[in-house]
Amino acid sequence: MRSTLRPGAVGSAVRRGLVAAAVLALGSTAAVATATSANAAVACKVDYSANEWQGGMSVNLTIQNLGDALNGWTLTFTFPNSSQRVTQGWSATWNQSGNTVTATALDWNRSLPTGGSTNIGFNGSWSGSNPTPTDFKINGVACNGTPQSPSPSPTVSPSVPQSPSPSPSPSVSPSVPQSPTPSPSTSPQQPGQRVDNPYDGADGYVNPDWSASAASEPGGSAVANESTGVWIDRIAAITGGSAGNNSMGVREHLDEAVRQDAANGSKPLTIQFVIYNLPNRDCSALASNGELKISENGLARYKSEYIDVIADIMSDPKYSQLRIVNIIEIDSLPNLVTNTNIPACAEAKNTGAYVQGVQYALDKFSAIPNVYNYIDAGHHGWLGWDSNFGPSAELFASTVRGTAKGFNSVTGFITNTANYSALQEPFFNANTTVNGQTVRQSKWVDWNWYVDELSFAQAFRTKLISLGFPNSIGMLIDTSRNGWGGPNRPTAASTSTDVNTFVNESRVDRRIHAGNWCNQSGAGLGERPKANPAPGIDAYVWIKPPGESDGSSSAIDNDEGKGFDRMCDPTYTGNERNGNNLTGALPNAPVSGHWFSAQFRELLANAYPPLS
Ligand code: BGC
Repeated sequence: MRSTLRPGAVGSAVRRGLVAAAVLALGSTAAVATATSANAAVACKVDYSANEWQGGMSVNLTIQNLGDALNGWTLTFTFPNSSQRVTQGWSATWNQSGNTVTATALDWNRSLPTGGSTNIGFNGSWSGSNPTPTDFKINGVACNGTPQSPSPSPTVSPSVPQSPSPSPSPSVSPSVPQSPTPSPSTSPQQPGQRVDNPYDGADGYVNPDWSASAASEPGGSAVANESTGVWIDRIAAITGGSAGNNSMGVREHLDEAVRQDAANGSKPLTIQFVIYNLPNRDCSALASNGELKISENGLARYKSEYIDVIADIMSDPKYSQLRIVNIIEIDSLPNLVTNTNIPACAEAKNTGAYVQGVQYALDKFSAIPNVYNYIDAGHHGWLGWDSNFGPSAELFASTVRGTAKGFNSVTGFITNTANYSALQEPFFNANTTVNGQTVRQSKWVDWNWYVDELSFAQAFRTKLISLGFPNSIGMLIDTSRNGWGGPNRPTAASTSTDVNTFVNESRVDRRIHAGNWCNQSGAGLGERPKANPAPGIDAYVWIKPPGESDGSSSAIDNDEGKGFDRMCDPTYTGNERNGNNLTGALPNAPVSGHWFSAQFRELLANAYPPLS
């Protein structure tokens, strides 16, 4: 897997062009201040953002009160097309009569102070066309004029520059309770009790399959007891015994986790699974294409043969004391923002298969009290530009709002899964200037707002909270292979006054180009898994098991649906996605997921922090 820097995240011309074509949200914003009755001036602004696919939609609305404080409100609007229907709504009581839709406040969001806002939404259906309504009214007063206050801030704007410490968009209140959110854990915890951060105070499950592979390599026993992700990368992996590096099935892992939990005294145990089998999987690359295709009934099969079966196993009461973390679908939703020029991604968007698949998984897993969902959120070298950052966050928000539990169906997000982006660049940040020039204009940074993964993950969390996710969400960062130690690691900032030379000599990420993602030469093991390592970060985790290939260096027949992606071929001179550079991939790699001894040995040698 792991295409990283996607088209649309490289060279600014390419990026802008693709993103313009890939905008998902149909936006409509209207603002008004209208004096009504003698005692209350209603003034409002409604933002309507629809994610749509053939026949379906998931819509988020932000209602902003620009007038006098409201205690109770009803929103109305008219669908322009008579086929448009609300099928299920959240955060309001929804009704539809003919084309007219009514959403009435619930108790917790009925009071809207001046300047306050609330997020509501619905899933719906349509045929023919799906135009955006324009006649929003609050308590019968149209929201379509000049705001009352002289300078109301806009609602969430994707173009707000994301600096390393961006301030959240002011208009959306992150503190609006969507429903009770779990409060930070208080110790002592009861076994099996739901907690805010499932990594806090817990041991991590050691996957015996991976551990044996690691221990069989020289020096590998130094890390063979680390906790790594268990990838359920095809239907057959549920029962196990299949190809690749994993022989144990989901039940066997959970049984073994119960055993490890019993053996470690009173500490809870966290086991991490990767849910990775969407139809049209890895739609913008080839190395991790999967077994299901949208055109071959893949979404229905994903639900019934994959998610249902896994959820059934995880809900077995004998596993109820474990903390089960599910990493949800690597590299899926952001491909709908940045890569819809690729047919497999366009199909994933137009059919709604990715959104509905992820919603289905979240619904099933969030119904199990001891399961914690973290959605994959790419990495800074993919989503770090404004054009990708805001729209991806909004797509996550609309997708999660459309689940039965809304924002409570996720515990957080993970970045850098199976990628190589450095956790922190110690010798410069996005604000560093060299001889009056920002490092952002260097070829390496290419105007990205982030130069490393920690700053990106923290800023992305802030953005998600500004869109309505609760403050309790936490981030994970996959640090399994982003160590960049060894002899080529810079030990001080460069003294060059040329911005490109400065960045190239100072950066610890030694890739040829930040768009390279396959079996990277020179990489090392990163931070060992640990809980609460930095503000907003639930844990550093090893989700990609070090030593498992990202993709084969040449075409290899297999029965897993895996393709051959030339980004894994060290002789390939690249494409627009990596600035036409060499790929930096190690030679002689097996198919993705299979054990790659040479890579594991290099990761050990270049570990950072170094192995003691
Ligand atoms: C592969 C999966 C594998 C995972 C972990 C992905 O790149 O597509 O088959 O389980 O990596 O190694």
